Amino acid sequence: MTILGIETSCDECAAAVVVDGKKILSNVVATQIEAHRPFYGVVPEIASRKHLEWITGVVKQGLEESGLGFDGIDAIAATMRPGLVGSLLVGLSFAKALAWTLGKPFLGIDHIEAHLYAVHLENDNITYPYLGVLVSGGHTLIARVANFDDFEVMGTTIDDACGEAFDKVAKFYDLGYPGGIAIQKLAEKGNPTAFRFTKPSLHKGEHKYDVSYSGLKNAAINQLDLFWDKKSSKTAENIAASFQRTAVDILLSRVFAAVRDTGISTVIFGGGVAANTYLRGSVAQNHDVRAVFPSLSLCTDNAAMIAGAAYPRFVRGQTSDMQVNASARVHAFRWHKPKKLHKE
Ligand code: KG4
Ligand code: ZN
Repeated sequence: MTILGIETSCDECAAAVVVDGKKILSNVVATQIEAHRPFYGVVPEIASRKHLEWITGVVKQGLEESGLGFDGIDAIAATMRPGLVGSLLVGLSFAKALAWTLGKPFLGIDHIEAHLYAVHLENDNITYPYLGVLVSGGHTLIARVANFDDFEVMGTTIDDACGEAFDKVAKFYDLGYPGGIAIQKLAEKGNPTAFRFTKPSLHKGEHKYDVSYSGLKNAAINQLDLFWDKKSSKTAENIAASFQRTAVDILLSRVFAAVRDTGISTVIFGGGVAANTYLRGSVAQNHDVRAVFPSLSLCTDNAAMIAGAAYPRFVRGQTSDMQVNASARVHAFRWHKPKKLHKE
C-alpha cells in the first residue's frame, strides 16, 4: 500500500510517499521559517498564502523523489486537524481534488495521531499499550495509547504548549527563531541551575498529569530587565539553560508519574520539542522507562507521518468522506477525566 501524504497544518508545506506505513520513499518539507522570522512567530495569513504558492511544487517534488507516478499511489492522505484553518484548507483541498481527479481513496488525518505515529515509521518492535507524549509548538499532551486510533488523554497543558513557551522566551530575549533550537544551542554553554524558576503545583486530582507553561514563560520573561543590565549570572546562556531545564522537568515529572501509575514503561515521544537534546538526555537517565524518539526530521512537522498514520486506517478499509473539513480544534479523544472532554 503506497500512500501520498500532504501536511500543511502550520508553517511547513510537506509531501511524502510512504509504503506500508513504514518505508519512506520521499519526504519533502518546504519550511516557511524565513517568511515568519521577522515576526518571531507564525503569521497565519502569510502561512496559508505560502502554502497556496508552494503546494503544487512540493507535491510534484514528493512524487518525483519517490520515483513513482500517480499510477503508483494507492491513496492520498492529508492533515485535517488540528492546526491553522487557512493553512489546513490548502493541503486538504489539494489532496481531495487530487484524489477526486485520479479516482483514488482519500483520508483526512489527525495531526496529533500522526506525530505519535512517527516512531512507527522507524521501529518495528513497538507494541501497544504505551504512553504517548506529544510536545510541539501547538500541543502538549500525555496519553495512554491502546491502539493507533485509541487514545486516552491523561494530561495536557492547561495554558501554553511547551514549544510555545520556548518560542516566546526566545522572542523576548532575542535569542533567535524558531525558539526551541535557539534555546537548546545557547543552553549547551549555560548553567542550568543559574536561575531557579518555580514549577506549577497542579498535581492533584483531575490535574494529576497536567502541565502548565505560562508561569515559567512569564517568570523567565520577567528577568529581562536584569538581563539587559549585563550583571552577574544573567546571561543568555544561563537563562536558556535554566529555562530549558525547568521546562523539561515540568514535563517529565508528569510523564514519570504516568509511568508509575499505569505501570506502562514504554513512552513514545513526538512533536518538535521531542527533538530537544536535553529532554532526550534527561529521559535516558530514568532506567524504568523505555523511551522511543523519532529521528530529528520526523519530530517536527512532516508529511511522512501523515502518510504513515493513514496506513493502519487504510488497511482496515477506512477512508474519509469528501465532506471532511479542516478544524482548528483537538479531536474529542477519550479523556482520563470526563470534565476535560473537548467537543469539536
Ligand atoms: O511539531 P512542530 O514542528 O509543529 C507543531 O505542530 O507545533 O513543533 C514546532 C515546535 C516549535 O515551538 C519549536 O520551537 C519546537 O517545536 N522545537 C524545539 C526544538 N526543535 C523544535 N523545542 C525545543 N528544542 C528543540 N530542539
Ligand atoms: Zn506538529
